[in-house]
Amino acid sequence: MDTITQAKKAAGEKAAALVQPGMLVGLGTGSTAYWAIEKIGEMVKGGLNIRAVATSLASEKQARELGIPITSFSEIQQLDIDIDGADEVSHDLQIIKGGGGALLREKIVAMASRRKVIVADERKYVKTLGKFPLPIEIIPFGWELVFRAVQSLQGAPTLRTKDDKPYITDNGNYILDCAFGAIENPEQLHHQLKTITGVVETGLFINMKPTVIIAYESGEVKTI
Ligand code: A5P
Repeated sequence: MDTITQAKKAAGEKAAALVQPGMLVGLGTGSTAYWAIEKIGEMVKGGLNIRAVATSLASEKQARELGIPITSFSEIQQLDIDIDGADEVSHDLQIIKGGGGALLREKIVAMASRRKVIVADERKYVKTLGKFPLPIEIIPFGWELVFRAVQSLQGAPTLRTKDDKPYITDNGNYILDCAFGAIENPEQLHHQLKTITGVVETGLFINMKPTVIIAYESGEVKTI
């Protein structure tokens, strides 16, 4: 296992240790959250009694295979803890997510959770957001109009593709990856984007007061 994968595993496992018996848990998406889910699966096999909501079909599949009981918002109101990855976390704890295309469910789950825990390797911890192009989830109909509207906000959008076709999210939508350069005011940008008709959600996770667990290639793990 390379040192970055080791760091992701260390961050994921440290977050999993925050899960207590009886909790309702949000399960994130991506290669770092993966390790938290694996660890929670081990804990469930060892007798931990929890229920979880997954942020993507892929994470739900992983959780079910590990025997983690899955629930939904038809049965519960709120989660105790949500553990998820990030594409960038700024020093003032604003976040870009959506590199894996799961940002909408991730945000719904995060908003429903009392405690939000972000797990990331050191490469994601940055002074200012924006090196990672901001993913936004959009409605397929008329997507070209949203594309132009993002351009008029000085963003450089790219329609995400897979196998030469538009990438389709778990919710049947498209993703635009939008390069804005350094995002000095993430809150303002998020609100500007949300006023464009056709934008479902942005990958900016703003003012969520998360617990952030950063793992370093050296083996050190810091909780911020
Ligand atoms: C999924 O849509 C994303 O928000 C992920 O949480 C994010 O891309 C982090 O993924 P990795 O841990 O794989 O980098």
